[in-house]
Amino acid sequence: MSDTIKDLGTAELTFDGKTIILPVFEGSEKEKAVDIRALRKETGMITYDPGFMNTGCCKSDITYIDGEVGILRYRGYDINELAENCEFVDVAYLLVHGSLPNKQQHTEFSENLNSHSLLHEDMRHFFDAYPDHAHPMATLSAMAVSLSTFYPELEDSSIQENIDFKVTRLLSKMRTAAAFAYKKSIGHPIVYPHHNLKYCENFLNMMFRTPVNDYQVDPVVATALNKLLILHADHEQNCSASVVKMVGSAGANLYASISAGICALWGPLHGGANQHVIEMLERIIVEDDGDVKRVIERAKDKNDPFRLMGVGHRVYKSYDPRAKVAKRMCKDVLAKMGVDDPLVELAQELEEAVLADDYFASRSLYPNIDFYTGLTYRAMGIPTDMFTVMFAIGRMPGWIAQWLEMRDDPHGRIGRPRQIYTGPTQRSVN
Ligand code: ACO
Repeated sequence: MSDTIKDLGTAELTFDGKTIILPVFEGSEKEKAVDIRALRKETGMITYDPGFMNTGCCKSDITYIDGEVGILRYRGYDINELAENCEFVDVAYLLVHGSLPNKQQHTEFSENLNSHSLLHEDMRHFFDAYPDHAHPMATLSAMAVSLSTFYPELEDSSIQENIDFKVTRLLSKMRTAAAFAYKKSIGHPIVYPHHNLKYCENFLNMMFRTPVNDYQVDPVVATALNKLLILHADHEQNCSASVVKMVGSAGANLYASISAGICALWGPLHGGANQHVIEMLERIIVEDDGDVKRVIERAKDKNDPFRLMGVGHRVYKSYDPRAKVAKRMCKDVLAKMGVDDPLVELAQELEEAVLADDYFASRSLYPNIDFYTGLTYRAMGIPTDMFTVMFAIGRMPGWIAQWLEMRDDPHGRIGRPRQIYTGPTQRSVN
């Protein structure tokens, strides 16, 4: 971990006539933190912070977000620059190693990805046991933890094997598992990975080749997939990354930790929102006659549980920088592919209504990454219930990098929040 912490002195907390002195420090981008680790020991009090709105759980070198102005950087590089100039595998390498790969490192990393791309043949039969309507996120999570049964040596999380070996095995096999899950869901034979194809091209080939069509990967689609996966690749201490680290903090192996992260990402308030955005847009057309005004009123009505999916973010209080790239890309990809999707027009209309409405402005609610990414996946031929799987494939290097950083953190402890008990005080059954 880099040594960029600056000591800023101390803060005082006074309660009930007693004052406690707490250290204050600053990170490399000037965020300040009060170190409250001694609070309970010295005062008997804990902090109360549901949803961890103000709780820093670690110091991290990986990703920086300034949600007030809409900045996102991986290892110091701006998300726009990475999406414009890099392949996903290079960004995966960057997240895990801290620097972009040189030519030789890129080649070795890519070769590792290819050599690990097959699933154990016995795992193929797992897919047969799930019903056709199984959500692919459930299958993906099960496949992630199943990998630990095939590589039992990795159940011991302390084994320091070659990191690239571990990383590429997960990145590559989870991509294969995702494509197999899709093929199973439509009743088609699986397509094996091919060593001549690059990471994204290989995935598209496994998804769309069939015994009766000679699928050729469209470079527009492959480029779009690279960009989308880069946008998904990390987002510091979000819900799923925190789950990965929480599970890992108990000493659980990387596969088990990632499997839990996949389940967290599936939630509609998190990565699952990309699927729900499209379903919401479809419902607006079918059930609301495309009436955006009515939908906006529902979203504002506190007696209605409905929320606009793909809008709002815990950290971004301005336009999500990933959503900016995704919106630009969506228009570009659809134009290049000659796709005319009425949902895109509807999404734009909805966005304009959100940006013009005081309810959303006063709460700093803007479109997030999930608002436009699903529309692009849809144009690429990816089915709606696979959108969050795409997010999971993209987020894999971020989860791995966060897990590795957690494991190597000298201040790391098992994750174990406290609570304020509000139930009955002691009572007796007699
Ligand atoms: N539609 C309508 N109102 C909203 C929305 C929305 N999408 N999002 C937030 N609000 C309102 C809340 O009702 C609340 O209003 P209030 O102050 O009058 O009570 C206020 O904005 C703050 O919302 P919170 O739920 O407290 O904000 P929080 O930071 O806890 O939640 C979240 C963030 C979960 C992303 C929320 O904005 C949401 O549910 N968005 C829709 C789901 C979504 O798109 N999730 C994907 C996020 S990106 C990602 O995880 C990859």
